[in-house]
Amino acid sequence: MKEKITIKGELRDLFELRRLTHERPQRIRAASSRPQGPPPINALARRIHPAAQQLEIVAVRDETRAARTFRLAPDADAGATRCAVFRAGQYLSLKVDINGVRITRPYSICSSPDDALNGRFYEITIRRKEGGFLTEHIWNSWGEGTKIEASGPCGFFYYEPLRDSADLVGLAGGSGITPFRSLMKDITANHPDARMTLLCGVRNAQEKMFAREFRDLSRESGGRVKAYFVASEPDGDWDGPTGFLTADLITSLAGPPEGKTFFICGPQPMYNFLDKELAAFNLPRRRVRREVFGELTDVTVFEDYPRELAGETFEIIVHAGRRVLTVPAKATESILVSLERAGLNPPSQCRSGECGFCNTILLNGGIFVSPENDGRRKAGIKYGYFHPCSSYPVSDLEIKLNPAVHAG
Ligand code: FES
Repeated sequence: MKEKITIKGELRDLFELRRLTHERPQRIRAASSRPQGPPPINALARRIHPAAQQLEIVAVRDETRAARTFRLAPDADAGATRCAVFRAGQYLSLKVDINGVRITRPYSICSSPDDALNGRFYEITIRRKEGGFLTEHIWNSWGEGTKIEASGPCGFFYYEPLRDSADLVGLAGGSGITPFRSLMKDITANHPDARMTLLCGVRNAQEKMFAREFRDLSRESGGRVKAYFVASEPDGDWDGPTGFLTADLITSLAGPPEGKTFFICGPQPMYNFLDKELAAFNLPRRRVRREVFGELTDVTVFEDYPRELAGETFEIIVHAGRRVLTVPAKATESILVSLERAGLNPPSQCRSGECGFCNTILLNGGIFVSPENDGRRKAGIKYGYFHPCSSYPVSDLEIKLNPAVHAG
């Protein structure tokens, strides 16, 4: 008597494999001898994570007297046809040439990821810094038609439902508000289970930006996203909350902290302030996500920093490929800035010790690494690597730039 046996799952795979093994010589004989091209997955990865993007400013608008939004689209003259996709909260590192020196600066994307996909543009909003040589340059020379080279989207300041709770609180100060515009748009359109309450610290009404858009998003999302502006120096007709983003104020506007994930983006002093305020909530570390804030404005605020060195200038012997040169370096300026002043351009993106793009080898001498943004890996430290963007000389140094980049 014959029995019918059904073969399932892995056992079936095994039989299939036997058939394949059997047919293998036949298939090899029938195959083309032409070498295969690069795996298509590599082209896809490059498209999704390009090292560089050629963009062009296609629109400019003022948000406040000191904040300007630039819309960047692919530069057709350079053959660019699309914007790389990004996650709300990520940034672009822009490359800017000023007086023959190329510098890079990270700017959060403030438009929606859907705009990059459908409308094929990014928006960034830049606040003018009094006396800041980069923002002065941008204000005076950027307009429609300006060509800009940018990195692909980078950074880890995004909402990830697998990791973060769905109840989010955003705390923003200064230009730290910009990634939240993108996050609020994305949550409204693409995350129906998430909600975000954003608290933006401003000095007065003149500093408020995106207020009308936030109101529209709140309506559109059925109240899942909402924003409050908190003025520290309110003008006469200010009718919103006032003061600073204290633990009490956060609780009164966003509710009890339990079960919430906090997203923080702002200038260095705001982080120092919020560290103390949020300590009262006793939050697990994974519930606090902080955006990197670019280079430190003042490294001497750290307790361990040797303040007696603050006025010193050291010398750095730099091995850049086959060249060896000596570069002056102020103690309170990041080593990356000293290298850029000397016309050397180690690659950089975040300028906050996070991305590892500026990885460099320390051959001799001592450095102070800012504890706030020490993103070195253990293996890197073991083999003498450091990040010049978050490191400061405390003696004369000898360093070797990444040979993969400085081969010449
Ligand atoms: S530029 Fe990102 S670690 Fe230095």
